Amino acid sequence: MKKDNSTKLIRSGLKRTEFMETSEPLFLTSGFVYNSAEEAEDAFKEQKKRFMYSRFGNPTVQMLQDKLADIEGAEVCWCTSTGMAAVFTIFMSFLKKGDRVVAGRALFGSCHHIITKILPRFGIEVELIDGKDLNAWEKALKKRTSLIFFETPSNPCLEIIDIEEVSKLAKKKGVLVVVDNVFATPLLQKPIKHGADIVMYSATKHIDGQGRVLGGAILGKRSHCDEFIKPFIRNTGPSMSPFNAWVLIKGLETLELRIKQQMKNTNLVIEYLQKSKYINKIYYPFLNDSPQIKLAMKQMKGGGNVVSFEINAKTSEKKQKSFSFLNKLSLIDISNNLGDTKSLITHPETTTHHRLNEKEKRELGITKNLIRLSVGLEDPEDIIEDIDNSLENLK
Ligand SMILES: Cc1ncc(COP(=O)(O)O)c(C=O)c1O
Repeated sequence: MKKDNSTKLIRSGLKRTEFMETSEPLFLTSGFVYNSAEEAEDAFKEQKKRFMYSRFGNPTVQMLQDKLADIEGAEVCWCTSTGMAAVFTIFMSFLKKGDRVVAGRALFGSCHHIITKILPRFGIEVELIDGKDLNAWEKALKKRTSLIFFETPSNPCLEIIDIEEVSKLAKKKGVLVVVDNVFATPLLQKPIKHGADIVMYSATKHIDGQGRVLGGAILGKRSHCDEFIKPFIRNTGPSMSPFNAWVLIKGLETLELRIKQQMKNTNLVIEYLQKSKYINKIYYPFLNDSPQIKLAMKQMKGGGNVVSFEINAKTSEKKQKSFSFLNKLSLIDISNNLGDTKSLITHPETTTHHRLNEKEKRELGITKNLIRLSVGLEDPEDIIEDIDNSLENLK
């Protein structure tokens, strides 16, 4: 098997049936039958390896898991029904009462909710820090810690955290390193290569990339995943539907093509935004004047397809101008999803991050005039024209 991503995206994981179908078969079945009671007993005792029930495992889901593991360079992958199910499964599998979690503060809204609202209810101590600051990690890890969690690039301001250096600090203390790699995709960043133990995805985003299904993935070492993740998924049921797995397998086949073109489009949109008198700040990891460009280049192959920016406005008009900009767009859709072939735009302060308090929003740069754009596959001239028309008509 060739080792490059292009081949793995198309070929890895495929297991043909006796019918020798070209495309991966969809096993849309909840259960599997046994030839005898003895066979069922052996299967439940794990003396015979076979599919038993789709909450435990399914051949189509397994094909997706094998493909994702091969692309990521991980020993195993466990898929879940959504990205948030993957995040919650990781926490609930590895943590217990009395444990402590340290997380980078720049988190997707629902990850922030789990960490700050749900985990403490189970007697788990949590600390949020500025993930860009290595001294803050060092200081936080002086207290006995079980797991660290961070998103890089982060949602929505695309902050970059140094995976290698943070992992080194964590390894010295025997702390499990979990990275949310949603924005980068497995093609632009491989956290395990930089020292992370566990990587998670919302497959809903670029892996599907066509706005059809929800999904999540957890990747890591066989020892970690089989001991902790496998029994949690099997017994509590955040399992992925075989239908969704099949759609995601098809999505992966075009991931590289989509990402390459979406990044080209994103760079053209950024060039336009940089020249616009209506824009005052742009967040993107690979901007020449970004303070984080060196770090981004160390661990990422490209900046991805999400760019955030602030619209120029007086303090009292920030929200109204941002809403007016969104409402005047005619091609780009207002939607909180991202990674889609369609360009999607959102106002994080009132949507994905609306539950954060004012202090948290300030710390993360989530202002009332911040806009997050996920650049799609439309003709870049059309995307830019839409943004331009809307900005020119701002009142
Ligand atoms: C960075 C990040 N992590 C996790 C998730 C959760 O994924 P899902 O919506 O598939 O549950 C999202 C979704 O928006 C996200 O942007």
